Amino acid sequence: MPTPTLPDGDVVTLPRARSHSPLARAWWRDAVIYQVYVRSFRDTDGDGVGDLAGVREQLHHVRQLGADGVWLNPFYVSPQHDHGYDIADHCAVDPVYGDLAEFDRLVTDCRLLGLKLVLDVVPNHCSSEHPWFRKALANGPGSPERARFHFADGRGEAGELPPNNWRAMFGGPAWSRVTEADGRPGQWYLHLFTPEQPDFNWRNPDVAAHFEEVLRFWLDRGVDGFRIDVAAGLFKHPELPDSADPDVDERTRDSVNPLAWNQPEVHGIWRRWRAICEEYTARDGHQRLLVGEASVPTPAEQALYVRPDELHQAFFFHLLHAPWDLAHFHRVIDDAVRDIAATGSTVTWVLNNHDQVRTVSRFAGEDPASGPARAAAAALLMLALPGAAYIYQGEELGLPEVLDLPDGLITDPIFRRTGSRTGIRDGCRIPLPWSGTEAPYGFSPHGSPTAPWLPQPASFAAHTAERQRSDAGSVYHLYRTALQLRRELPQLGEGTLRWLETPPGVLAFVRGEGLVCAVNFGDTPAPAPVAGPPLLSSGPCGEGVLPPATAAWWIGPTAAERI
Ligand code: GLC
Repeated sequence: MPTPTLPDGDVVTLPRARSHSPLARAWWRDAVIYQVYVRSFRDTDGDGVGDLAGVREQLHHVRQLGADGVWLNPFYVSPQHDHGYDIADHCAVDPVYGDLAEFDRLVTDCRLLGLKLVLDVVPNHCSSEHPWFRKALANGPGSPERARFHFADGRGEAGELPPNNWRAMFGGPAWSRVTEADGRPGQWYLHLFTPEQPDFNWRNPDVAAHFEEVLRFWLDRGVDGFRIDVAAGLFKHPELPDSADPDVDERTRDSVNPLAWNQPEVHGIWRRWRAICEEYTARDGHQRLLVGEASVPTPAEQALYVRPDELHQAFFFHLLHAPWDLAHFHRVIDDAVRDIAATGSTVTWVLNNHDQVRTVSRFAGEDPASGPARAAAAALLMLALPGAAYIYQGEELGLPEVLDLPDGLITDPIFRRTGSRTGIRDGCRIPLPWSGTEAPYGFSPHGSPTAPWLPQPASFAAHTAERQRSDAGSVYHLYRTALQLRRELPQLGEGTLRWLETPPGVLAFVRGEGLVCAVNFGDTPAPAPVAGPPLLSSGPCGEGVLPPATAAWWIGPTAAERI
């Protein structure tokens, strides 16, 4: 195969050759996947919303960065109440993003560039405009169509109270009441997110059968795997009893109700989905990936989701929620490596995604100026850990969270449902800055009639991909070099991790034979664990000293080993 040349003349290094033998190490075990939030990636038709053609156009950016593949957030037919996580047709592309022909071209492009393609699948709920839900509304209580969802009569004299006291993730009660065909208030239906996202009843066999068809539809089109939304959801306690949590009414966003999440039956579904993936692998030797968004309280519980016959990976969210704190990082890394390794899988690290405040702002604490250095240090730490990693678009450009969007521009249903800005997600979903010095920074074509769906701040001028590519000291080049080293150095990716004794404020470990990673979480310079210049550092770093809020990689014996 000829070496592809990218648009700006940069020659691509093809991925490490990986054998199709079942005995070979599976590609996903230490893959780095780049998350594309399609809506905010690149808009080719000037409507202010990203599209699949835009993903194709900028795929070379992902390839040049050195990622192994892309995960696309949902682009299916949707009324967009939760930006695509409310799906009305799981097997069609929403016209705002393109069509199936464009999707097929994207599959081809990914193949040509050696990138894996991972799609989002959303099995816990659908859109209230999904044909099944419309039929359920039309056909009334007791109908087989209602049995595909959780419909129940209300409590109180006239059924005016919800069937139980559960709260929704995005605020308010987890139940909404419908108006029946005769115009009177009728049954209630369960939605763990917004009322526009009714939960499927996974105890109904139609639901499992439908999703098997959905998986096969996309596998047959050539995708390499799926990111599973809310993978600890799907099944609810069969009797839908009240939560006994005394704080249940106080909590506006209930993500911990043990009656609504993490039910044992869900593992049977993941075993079935894994078997479907294995069926495809048996045909062509190529492994398909299932990566779950399984938000469960502990790494030990998460380990259950990645047992050898279940999901290949589950996002390890404990770093996504970690403060800039050495003890916290140390503990969650230790727990993850121990618990997940015991399953035979690898840890799937993630620092940013489309639901969380970006690390540049999250790690800044009281001092916004400290954010960029800490975020870069955390990235270098993550990329040195054993296992796989996910990078969220814009992370490689050092984008901050946009925290000052006016109320009137906020689109996140969390804001609408809770009336609070806490946890809203628009700020990490601002359209990417590609080039130029003013909005839309190459996100939409020059002179587009419609502005980007969320406004880009003036500060994005310093973060454009164009500018970062030409600056050897940029965050982009840090990520790019780190990913290149991950491909080249056998110590990185899968393998062992051994903690080092360190001075206060420093976290350090050795990977395999002699790759040392150290991070200075403190506010003062610390002695470096290895003599000589680092191989790579997240900020200026000379010999022998590790500056504050800096991470570095070295090859060589540690100071302790030299003695
Ligand atoms: C997941 C997605 C989030 C979405 C929610 C409901 O948590 O990451 O963006 O709003 O599920 O589908």
